Amino acid sequence: MKKSLLADVIVDLQYGDCGKGKVTHSLLQSTEYTHCVRFNGGHNAGHTIYHDGKKVVTHIIPSGVLRGVRSIIGPGCVVSPSLLQKEIEDLEAAGIEVKGNLFVDKRVNVISNKHLEEDGGDTTIGTTRRGNGPAYRDKYDRKGTRFESVPTDSSYQLTDIYQEFFENELPVVALFEGAQGFGLDIDWGDYPYVTSSTCNVGGAVSNGIPASAVRHVYGVAKAYQTYVGAKKFQPDGEIFNKIREAGQEYGATTGRPRQVDFLDIDQLVKAARINGVTELIINKTDILEQVDCWKLYKDGKLLDLEHEDRFLDYVRNLILVKCPDVEDVIFSYSPTDI
Ligand code: IMP
Ligand code: MG
Repeated sequence: MKKSLLADVIVDLQYGDCGKGKVTHSLLQSTEYTHCVRFNGGHNAGHTIYHDGKKVVTHIIPSGVLRGVRSIIGPGCVVSPSLLQKEIEDLEAAGIEVKGNLFVDKRVNVISNKHLEEDGGDTTIGTTRRGNGPAYRDKYDRKGTRFESVPTDSSYQLTDIYQEFFENELPVVALFEGAQGFGLDIDWGDYPYVTSSTCNVGGAVSNGIPASAVRHVYGVAKAYQTYVGAKKFQPDGEIFNKIREAGQEYGATTGRPRQVDFLDIDQLVKAARINGVTELIINKTDILEQVDCWKLYKDGKLLDLEHEDRFLDYVRNLILVKCPDVEDVIFSYSPTDI
């Protein structure tokens, strides 16, 4: 009998920081998942999760470790052994059992100290300075080092995702956790103000699953947009600072203030279509409620919908009409639940 292999994928439809960590953590309450896989990026990510009443931030380690799920850093990622060690120690100090649950695919490319140093000098893109760009450059230039040739310590285990998914008897239901977002994707983002990896569902597929295995695609966005980096993004106006403060929009990795703008509904439609999103989660609706400002961009023009109900109806209806794969649009008002 053919064994079953299913994958659900979580992608960010804006510029990162939309709450993927929260969605992963919430979905992993289901005991159905056998694996949690991080499929792109490196330590540049910062996923904020409220776990057992405590705030936890992960960077490269899949959120699955918080729920004791077998968690794999997939071949599409780049990892610094020293930063990984630090993150393992920080999580263990917070009472999370990482050892035993954390696996690194042998194909993962190394972020070296030289990569970290080089990225530390970035002044044009506004990177997180975590060595991402230089590591991916060397990977694609075929000058990288893979984890299989790095001495392993006991805090994680080396694995082969092919063995995990195909060469064992058990059915696999894997939750793929993306990093960054559509607006930062190397191909679909606003180049060159992008990250160096594929942040969309295609990135998950190239980590070792057939496209036909993908079941749900959870798209995560916010009711407004934020971006961190060197380009000018935030328009003039006190409202944007108000949203930043209400939403505590500061980088989880670097502490930088995030630039804020209203929702661009056309961009959201585009990102949902290209990712084949089946469930759309729009986070931080409570923040717009707090500032009571219900504006969005449509066809490049600012539209003031004035009332919450009209805003929600407008967004929901447009998404459902334009994105036939989307079955549900969920507006979330909570940092801990969907
Ligand atoms: P890099 O990924 O560190 O090379 O940074 C490239 C761009 O992506 C910069 O604008 C970063 O601020 C942004 N970026 C990278 N990772 C994240 C993230 O997890 N959330 C938000 N922005 C990010
Ligand atoms: Mg983040």
